[in-house]
Amino acid sequence: MDIYEALYTTRMMRRLRPDPIPLKAQARILDAAVRAPNGGNTQRWHFVAVDDRDLIRRFAALFRQGRALEFAKFASGAGPMAAPAPGADTAAHAETMHRMKGSGDYLADHFEEVPLLLFVFAIDDLGGANIYPAIWSALLAARAEGVGGVMTMVLRNFADEVNELVGVPVEQGWKMSAMLALGYPLGRWGVAANRRPVHEVSSRNGWGKPFGVEVPQPLWPSQKASTGSANE
Ligand SMILES: Cc1cc2nc3c(=O)[nH]c(=O)nc-3n(C[C@H](O)[C@H](O)[C@H](O)COP(=O)(O)O)c2cc1C
Repeated sequence: MDIYEALYTTRMMRRLRPDPIPLKAQARILDAAVRAPNGGNTQRWHFVAVDDRDLIRRFAALFRQGRALEFAKFASGAGPMAAPAPGADTAAHAETMHRMKGSGDYLADHFEEVPLLLFVFAIDDLGGANIYPAIWSALLAARAEGVGGVMTMVLRNFADEVNELVGVPVEQGWKMSAMLALGYPLGRWGVAANRRPVHEVSSRNGWGKPFGVEVPQPLWPSQKASTGSANE
């Protein structure tokens, strides 16, 4: 797969088929992830794949509770989902949130059927900076395998329970950074078009000065094919 196709179409997919992901594909996904940059090449990461149905059922109950907590924060104007960037179109943000809620509801309602959960642990992930390159590489490699999914931090609301359920050696400093729910998507992959264009979010030689080039449309796929904007 062309690297730009992967970069443009690795959307968060929340409607997943229950079909298992072959172990060899899982190996390729994680083998790509561990090539990612990380501070000092200390590789203080650990990935726990969960495909045990009983365990997934336990996590499903926690996920639904955690999601309710996140939406309560959102409703009170707190948390990372609450407000778009200054100057952004609030109507477009509301529309994105609406779509995300729909696909998120689907995931929550079908969580028991998700074929694979991938818990990502790190020691001192530097606010995520030291682990998100690996997570993003895993998602890109998954995309190349036709596997989709979503990264979520919802289960960090229940870190103690997660640590207990998967037996994390917390005394060594391991903490959950994120969890990926992975599977073959029900929907189509589309370009992440619901993004503010480059010239609105970039400047040159000083904040707010023109970047120098306008990018009104996504540059891949060479503006030939149609682009999708749905949060799948
Ligand atoms: C740090 C981080 C946390 C996220 N947490 C969640 C989450 O808890 N639930 C969810 O459905 N999506 C989550 N996402 C995915 C974003 O909602 C998604 O990337 C965004 O809506 C844009 O959609 P797209 O990537 O499909 O274009 C998270 C993404 C990041 C980077």
